[in-house]
Amino acid sequence: MYVCVCRAVTDKDIRKAMEEGATTVRELKEKLKVTESCGSCLESVRDLVKQHHSPQAA
Ligand code: FES
Repeated sequence: MYVCVCRAVTDKDIRKAMEEGATTVRELKEKLKVTESCGSCLESVRDLVKQHHSPQAA
Protein backbone atom coordinates (compact mmCIF):
# COMPACT_ATOMS: atom_id res chain seq x y z
CA MET A 1 0.00 0.00 0.00
CA TYR A 2 1.29 3.46 -0.84
CA VAL A 3 1.95 5.59 2.20
CA CYS A 4 3.52 8.49 0.31
CA VAL A 5 1.85 8.93 -3.05
CA CYS A 6 4.05 11.89 -4.00
CA ARG A 7 7.21 9.78 -3.74
CA ALA A 8 5.63 6.39 -4.54
CA VAL A 9 6.80 4.96 -1.22
CA THR A 10 4.95 1.97 0.23
CA ASP A 11 4.61 0.74 3.81
CA LYS A 12 6.93 -2.10 2.78
CA ASP A 13 9.61 0.42 1.71
CA ILE A 14 9.26 2.18 5.05
CA ARG A 15 9.47 -1.04 7.07
CA LYS A 16 12.54 -2.10 5.08
CA ALA A 17 14.21 1.27 5.74
CA MET A 18 13.53 0.86 9.47
CA GLU A 19 14.96 -2.66 9.41
CA GLU A 20 18.04 -1.15 7.80
CA GLY A 21 18.43 1.31 10.65
CA ALA A 22 16.14 4.31 10.20
CA THR A 23 14.48 4.98 13.56
CA THR A 24 12.77 8.35 13.17
CA VAL A 25 10.50 10.20 10.76
CA ARG A 26 13.43 12.48 10.00
CA GLU A 27 15.65 9.57 9.01
CA LEU A 28 12.90 8.15 6.82
CA LYS A 29 12.53 11.56 5.24
CA GLU A 30 16.24 11.69 4.48
CA LYS A 31 16.32 8.17 3.14
CA LEU A 32 13.06 7.91 1.20
CA LYS A 33 12.05 11.57 0.79
CA VAL A 34 8.67 10.88 2.38
CA THR A 35 6.74 13.92 3.69
CA GLU A 36 8.81 16.28 1.53
CA SER A 37 6.15 17.24 -1.01
CA CYS A 38 2.57 17.68 0.18
CA GLY A 39 3.24 16.35 3.69
CA SER A 40 -0.07 14.52 3.94
CA CYS A 41 1.70 11.21 4.61
CA LEU A 42 3.31 12.50 7.82
CA GLU A 43 0.74 10.95 10.18
CA SER A 44 0.95 7.57 8.42
CA VAL A 45 4.76 7.62 8.53
CA ARG A 46 4.61 8.51 12.24
CA ASP A 47 2.22 5.62 12.88
CA LEU A 48 4.56 3.18 11.14
CA VAL A 49 7.49 4.43 13.23
CA LYS A 50 5.40 4.03 16.41
CA GLN A 51 4.33 0.52 15.41
CA HIS A 52 7.92 -0.39 14.68
CA HIS A 53 8.96 0.68 18.18
CA SER A 54 6.02 -0.87 19.99
CA PRO A 55 6.64 -4.14 21.85
CA GLN A 56 3.99 -5.95 19.77
CA ALA A 57 6.04 -5.32 16.62
CA ALA A 58 8.86 -7.53 17.86
S1 FES B 1 2.06 11.93 0.19
FE1 FES B 1 4.03 12.04 1.05
S2 FES B 1 4.70 14.04 0.55
FE2 FES B 1 2.79 13.87 -0.41
